Amino acid sequence: MARPDDYAARPPAGERLCALADIADPGAKAFRFRDGDLLFAGFVVRAGELIRGFIDRCPHAAYPLGYYGTDQFLTKAGDRILCAAHGALFTLEGEGVCNPCQGQWLTPWEVEVRDGDVFTAAFTPPAPRTPDARAG
Ligand code: FES
Repeated sequence: MARPDDYAARPPAGERLCALADIADPGAKAFRFRDGDLLFAGFVVRAGELIRGFIDRCPHAAYPLGYYGTDQFLTKAGDRILCAAHGALFTLEGEGVCNPCQGQWLTPWEVEVRDGDVFTAAFTPPAPRTPDARAG
């Protein structure tokens, strides 16, 4: 689930992240953006035609998924995203397939490929919660 601070340091749509060829196939690549004290942490997964971006936070205990300082987010076989903290596995589309994250989803980070480069894509931040929404 997205949090309001996921969006504070998030790069705007249209920012070039890297060349597609810079991401192993299958593989992943971490990205960090800082805005003052705020940090946005995301990663992009590549497997053939599949390109997906995610916010780098496990739904179990909110730890970053990858091994710190690396682009290692996938299992050795390259067919699952692995949380390095407690071993949760996710499909490359972001669905948790074992405990402690069975049935939970990684938070998407919208990205797209244009002319061989990976860019941030347009997104709609969730509406802020209101007292009425919490009561419902
Ligand atoms: S933080 Fe990912 S499995 Fe615990």
